[in-house]
Amino acid sequence: MGEIVRLQKYIAMSGIASRRAAEGIIAEGRVKVNGKTVTEQGVKVEIGADKVDVDNKPIKLKDKKYYIMLNKPVGYVSTVKDQFDRPTVVDIIKEDIDTRIFPVGRLDYDTEGLLLLTNDGDFTYRVTHPKFHMDKTYIATIKGGMTISGINHLRRGVKIEDYVTSPAEVEILDAFDGRTTVKITIHEGKNRQVRKMFEAIGCKVVGLQRIKIGIVELGHLPLGRWRHLTSHEINYLMGR
Ligand code: URA
Repeated sequence: MGEIVRLQKYIAMSGIASRRAAEGIIAEGRVKVNGKTVTEQGVKVEIGADKVDVDNKPIKLKDKKYYIMLNKPVGYVSTVKDQFDRPTVVDIIKEDIDTRIFPVGRLDYDTEGLLLLTNDGDFTYRVTHPKFHMDKTYIATIKGGMTISGINHLRRGVKIEDYVTSPAEVEILDAFDGRTTVKITIHEGKNRQVRKMFEAIGCKVVGLQRIKIGIVELGHLPLGRWRHLTSHEINYLMGR
């Protein structure tokens, strides 16, 4: 008998979604087990014996897991396919990796820097779920200057839409030629959060780069290039 796992774990193991996203896919009625649609979450499946389809396509468990760091350029979307046919981050690596891999969270079209990609849904879950408080560090270039009260405001937390951000680490790196360069570390991942945080204190972000996730740093990886993570980096991000 094969190992028995919960359906959402099985889907996550296939790499097509994190466990949390898999729960949504199940609830939406997109999953069949042995030909029957399943919408409840408690169902278990036997690896190697049960047949699982998502969107009517059989999903397979892949043994080899990929953990990749990309230095994303501006002008790429962090999805597998774009509704407007813009270039995607997956286009950059798909020539070299012959399995489907997915961005871990997102960087905006106009943000560059450290983006992780993987086919391991558990890894995505560990890095992106807010409960793991994974620090993410950005270099933001701001038009104009910043006030001490603005900086303190960011440090304490600001209101963006209906949400107050957690305290952030903020350090001014440089102020030159009408621009200020700021290093900011947050552990949440709301949509366009860094841009909105600066907007909330009246500052416009004109450039944004992510340089670090937890202890994992972009370093000198050239723009548009990728590398495999080291086992030390993978273990750290997996919380092992
Ligand atoms: N915050 C943003 O505003 N944009 C990103 O791409 C990432 C964090």
